[in-house]
Amino acid sequence: MRDAQPKAIYLKDYQQPDYWIERTELTFELQDEYTLVTAQLDCVRNEQAQPGAALLLAGQDLELLSLVLDGQPLTAGQYETGEESLTVHGLQERSQLEIQTRIYPAKNTALEGLYRSGGMYCTQCEAEGFRRITYYLDRPDVMSVFTTHIIADAAQFPVLLSNGNLVADCVDDGLHKVTWHDPHKKPAYLFALVAGDLRVKEDRFTTMNGRDVALKIFVEPQNIDKTDYALDALKRSMRWDEETYGREYDLDIFMIVAVDDFNMGAMENKGLNIFNSSCVLANPATATDAAYQRIEAIVAHEYFHNWSGNRVTCRDWFQLSLKEGFTVFRDACFSADMNSATVKRIEDANIMRTVQFAEDGGPMAHPVQPDSFIEISNFYTVTIYEKGSEVVGMLHKILGKDGFRKGSDLYFERHDGQAVTIYDFVQAMEDANHVDLTLFKRWYKQAGTPVVTVNSEYDADAQQLRLTLSQRCPDTPGQSNKLAQWIPVQLGLIGADGQDLAIDVEPAAAWTESSQVLHLTEAEQTFVFNGISEQPRLSLFRDFSAPVKVEFEQSADDLLFLLQHDSDGFNRWDAGQRLMLSWISAAQQGRFELLPQVRDVFARLLADESLDPAMVSCLLTLPSEAYIAEFSAQVDPLAIHAARKQVQQAIAASLVKEFSACYQRLQSTAAYAPVPAQMSARSLKNLALAYWVKGSADGLAQAVSQYRSADNMTDQMAALVAVVNSGASAQAEQLLGDFYQQWSQDALVVNQWLSVQAGSAELGRVEFIQQLLAHPAFDWRNPNKVRSVLGAFANQALCHFHREDGAGYRLLADAVLRLNDSNPQIAARLLTPLTKWRRLVPELSELMKAELQRIMQHDALSKDVYEVVSKSLI
Ligand code: TRP
Ligand code: ZN
Repeated sequence: MRDAQPKAIYLKDYQQPDYWIERTELTFELQDEYTLVTAQLDCVRNEQAQPGAALLLAGQDLELLSLVLDGQPLTAGQYETGEESLTVHGLQERSQLEIQTRIYPAKNTALEGLYRSGGMYCTQCEAEGFRRITYYLDRPDVMSVFTTHIIADAAQFPVLLSNGNLVADCVDDGLHKVTWHDPHKKPAYLFALVAGDLRVKEDRFTTMNGRDVALKIFVEPQNIDKTDYALDALKRSMRWDEETYGREYDLDIFMIVAVDDFNMGAMENKGLNIFNSSCVLANPATATDAAYQRIEAIVAHEYFHNWSGNRVTCRDWFQLSLKEGFTVFRDACFSADMNSATVKRIEDANIMRTVQFAEDGGPMAHPVQPDSFIEISNFYTVTIYEKGSEVVGMLHKILGKDGFRKGSDLYFERHDGQAVTIYDFVQAMEDANHVDLTLFKRWYKQAGTPVVTVNSEYDADAQQLRLTLSQRCPDTPGQSNKLAQWIPVQLGLIGADGQDLAIDVEPAAAWTESSQVLHLTEAEQTFVFNGISEQPRLSLFRDFSAPVKVEFEQSADDLLFLLQHDSDGFNRWDAGQRLMLSWISAAQQGRFELLPQVRDVFARLLADESLDPAMVSCLLTLPSEAYIAEFSAQVDPLAIHAARKQVQQAIAASLVKEFSACYQRLQSTAAYAPVPAQMSARSLKNLALAYWVKGSADGLAQAVSQYRSADNMTDQMAALVAVVNSGASAQAEQLLGDFYQQWSQDALVVNQWLSVQAGSAELGRVEFIQQLLAHPAFDWRNPNKVRSVLGAFANQALCHFHREDGAGYRLLADAVLRLNDSNPQIAARLLTPLTKWRRLVPELSELMKAELQRIMQHDALSKDVYEVVSKSLI
């Protein structure tokens, strides 16, 4: 596949193209074996280009059938084709180029470009998939008005969709012919086409200016009863974006299509979002509360892209976080408004600390605005998405809600219809607020997680607290000697009564009263708090105000106090997690004991009905093994597993009565609904059940009974997981068998069944994973199934993945090599756990590295896999 070593592309080499494409008219003739694509491109020479400049188009896996320039068929010498390009000579200032290509969607297993999923056709063009459809200027700064004709067998394809408005639709001699026209200019990555025999669920939305929009969700016939929730979430998103950002929808129709084979979560194609079916379909019997919340967030995310991504798009792919970071920030605020804001913040901080900090500390570390890449698909990362969102969130904290809104208004107004850079976004924030964000911009340029060290001294005589904060940022590949970043430290000083003390700090300019934020902008700074009449407890980085690591020794007593009394919910949780981490590390050294005062605090939390149950559930959840690993200097996964289990067992055993009482109290007879109050209660109820099962046989019996009587997937799945994790293998086997019997016809539920087993410490042994891979429910071509088995195994069943003889690593490496040919994007993503070899204890580290070297020796590596493996071995 690969002839030479793949080359890196650099941000610094960015240049505008020599031509623009004003208008793009596409005709698709869908035939059984292949599809014919005719593209008419109205090209206009860039003012900056030389007259006579050649037109250089990208193309991949295309059969070129004909080329016509301004009505004249082109002959050899007037054009050249390369491995992945087409060069055309002889264009005028304005020329029309017509290109006919043949493509083979049924053979397209990479799921980029036009492909078949089950009986339907669909597309995925971001980032560089359009070039698998036709030769094109496949780059986001080339924006064009698209008209799309689709011709297909009428019986097989009653539904034919593309972007924009339907302008023609007829059946002629057994052929279904439609034309769609999208009046908004867009880059090719937002193009979409869908063909199939689909059912539709319809609704309407009236925009803030009274415009009527048709909303349609298209699904395969068996899924029509799983569309209500997404439709509802869509309407809530549309209203929220009007109210929060003043953004109105801009077409008369908005469509969502669910497809089973999809590399990612969903795609924001203009007016025609395409979703992984797992991120849109739900009903109470088949979807858990967690799935409902994911659906709400992703529907919102894709909808919000209509402004942050589509109306204002990216100049080049180095600016990816311009749309993704901002849009994740927008969907996070939406989810926070719809549900518990604190719980959402905790979930996001958890992802940052486990996944993003790990990426920052590994071989693929890159800035939010990367300066180079080999394969752009590898840069759809937690750094671009989640850290990008955190950076936008810091701007929100620094500028305040109103200042941020002024900035976003200016950004949308100034750049509507343009392809811009991350700095255009920051510039709008600066201009609207008359602030200088030069220092802040370092967040976009520097990779790595800053570490903030805290020192505080209380002077009772002077009634002063001196707080010294210093920051450093570790080296990352290609970057050393980093500069200080602008770190917003939201904080409180807590008195003995649990109340926040009034803040009077010097220098006063470093404090923003409205957001309670202290601005750390230098490598080291000392702040003096005056009028402090008692030694306060410090609550720092409230609400996870910056994506940093904090080095700060606080006593167990202080942490227990914060866990109970901090007015900031996030820091209550954080104090609890820090305590639990200390117990786990004590357990690793064989000296852990659950103190009676801790037990009592937990008992009180469980009984406190004034608290949000979902919050209590977070407070009592142990950090995951991956989270613990991130807080360890050298990672010994088996020791972490054993220590965590010991702490979990101790909590379960000493609070059996409290967990069972909490469980009983939260039992409900109300009909299931995916609404926040119910979801919150279920999350604590099922956490209590999980502990109760570990603590006593009664708990196990109750879990089996809940499994049998559940009328919704949340309770059924929670009971199943509790039984599987209890180690009661006979009951587990029985329930898993029943579950498969009940749900074998529902692919999304079967995927959950695969993942519960593959990710379980009790079951997920290497030999068992091999059995799952051979199970009729498994399919190598379907990314959701690959993630359900191999993703769950390598990211969750850590005690088996890190088996002493390296068999877990070998299994994953074999899977990567197998997927390398058929689906490189998925192959490269699966590799992530193998990139962490440097952090492991020496024996495991060597075994893991050996598997990377084995992959590297393969002589036909895709760019995707090559980039990750080669960077991991440097
Ligand atoms: N833009 C999409 C989103 O975040 C991401 C995406 C969907 C994607 N499918 C993809 C990225 C395939 C790369 C390849 O909403
Ligand atoms: Zn996105």
